Amino acid sequence: MCGISGAVGLNNITDELYQGIRNLEYRGYDSCGVALMDKKSLVIRKNTGGVEEFFRKENVLSLSSKIGIAHTRWATHGKVTRENTHPFTSCDGKFAVVHNGIISNFRPLKDKLTREGHKFDSETDTEVIPHLLEKYYKETKNIEQALRKVINVLEGTFALVFISPMAPGQIFCAKRESPLMLGIGDEAKYVGSDFNAFIDHTKNAVIIDDGEYAIVSRDSYVVKDFVTGQEIQKNITKIDWDSETTKKGGYPHYMLKEIYEQPQVVTNALEQDSKSLDELADMIFESEKMILVGVGTTYYVASYGNYIFSSLAGEFCPPISSDEFPSLANVDEKSLVLALSQSGETYDTLTALKYAKSQGAKTAAIVNVMGSAISRFVDKAILQGSGPEICVISTKAALSQMLILTLVALRVAVKKKVMTKKVFNASMAALHDLPGIIQSILNERSGFIHRIAHSYCKVRHWLYLGRGIYYPVALESALKMKEVAYVHAEGMPAGFLKHGTLAMIDQDIYSIVFIPPRSDKALYEATIHSVDEIRARSGFVLGIHFDERGKNKDLFSEELILPKVPPLIAPLIQMVIGQLFSYFTATSLKRNVDKPRSLAKSVTVG
Ligand code: G6P
Repeated sequence: MCGISGAVGLNNITDELYQGIRNLEYRGYDSCGVALMDKKSLVIRKNTGGVEEFFRKENVLSLSSKIGIAHTRWATHGKVTRENTHPFTSCDGKFAVVHNGIISNFRPLKDKLTREGHKFDSETDTEVIPHLLEKYYKETKNIEQALRKVINVLEGTFALVFISPMAPGQIFCAKRESPLMLGIGDEAKYVGSDFNAFIDHTKNAVIIDDGEYAIVSRDSYVVKDFVTGQEIQKNITKIDWDSETTKKGGYPHYMLKEIYEQPQVVTNALEQDSKSLDELADMIFESEKMILVGVGTTYYVASYGNYIFSSLAGEFCPPISSDEFPSLANVDEKSLVLALSQSGETYDTLTALKYAKSQGAKTAAIVNVMGSAISRFVDKAILQGSGPEICVISTKAALSQMLILTLVALRVAVKKKVMTKKVFNASMAALHDLPGIIQSILNERSGFIHRIAHSYCKVRHWLYLGRGIYYPVALESALKMKEVAYVHAEGMPAGFLKHGTLAMIDQDIYSIVFIPPRSDKALYEATIHSVDEIRARSGFVLGIHFDERGKNKDLFSEELILPKVPPLIAPLIQMVIGQLFSYFTATSLKRNVDKPRSLAKSVTVG
């Protein structure tokens, strides 16, 4: 989704602007632009394509300006063209605006402004904003008042930021639903869509809430309420992420780095504050029903959660894809809606939570980004502490969420007295073994997975199969393959295969089967049965399993043998294999791993 970075300082800020907008590239974008100030006039540069290329071609770093705003655009209204790239200016060239969100009433506003003589250059919704600023500035002769009037007529969502030569040392910004925050440095102040826009310069952030606008200058800032215009005292949030952890650190891609961070991420999850986990467990215990929501990867995490809660705590908690929530959910004050979100900004998930709250339901969330909209909206938020996830493809954040759900499910099981303390302790011991096991798999199996992925990277269609809790693992692993390698992968319950899909199996169909440990007898046997069905029709099967070499001789076309582990952690290990398999397929196909096409890290529009 769109990224916004702005800076105002004592000296030239073009380097900081460049760094800031580069740090937001992970959000996904297709074009880039900046607005700077040369003495008393605006300098606009913009174009389609990548940030690095744009700054080089347009020589942006050779320009000098003490104030500036930059934007990466994710196209929603209008094609990917230079004309549709932000910033946009007013007819008189006095306002340069960048925006994230959707102005839903832009058509009537544009028609009216056109009738009043304003000329538009783009197909975007955003372009009405500078023209409205111009119009209301003419009426009020005051930029702040003009901004309040503009906000008043805008419907939809926005994080909007603008500069004007009439206030050459000030950045103006306002927020409704799309993320926006300030960075409070000593020598410069910043605005950004998230911390990454300024994390290289300051760890002090002010999170702008819905219904607030801010005026930021080199040595001061003020935040006010849209409606009353009254000043709001804001707390400074200390960012506990280190700017070094947002760097690639020698890995060729963030995706690989983040996969390799998982032993530490699991350790962090296991060290979650137990009081906080208990509070969530209490909420679940006290509610009559719980629904899990998420979208994309987090929907599959929610599905995983349903299996974990059902099997450990006898608690059936249906997962609903956040975008489908309003059509499906039936919640009231006795319900709890628990959301999963890495970014904490996903529009569909936030909308589902708002709907749940409006029906009187309790809300909770497991979120990675501190200070995010979802983390502040819900009654109870658990910050997962996975560190920044820069690759658009979610890996470590999803694994951590699955683990935290497991920790909470174990607590609920004890509260409900469906699990003895002894089983609880044994389960916790198994979970504590997980970081070491993942580490050894990363060390010892990556090479093999790389080889297999490389050998089969030309396969265009995969079936990903699993039974029970291995089914959401199959779904999530298939999504990884589609997202990063652009290879068709269909996740399916292995038992569902015989109800139709088996008809298409022949030697050209490739399947991956996630097989449980043999100790999970019924599930193991049922899964192997599905493998037999495919093999009987000459289908190819890559079996990922925990059996010793030789035990399954000739059962699979290719196999990946994992060390013996307890059933509770086996699916999490299988998921790591799924991540590596899609990563190495993508690198073999020379895909743009960290920024795959048509994907945004956080989707802040509906
Ligand atoms: C987008 C991303 C997905 C992500 C989903 C949920 O669709 O492209 O990769 O899984 O949003 O994001 P969240 O930040 O809420 O976990």
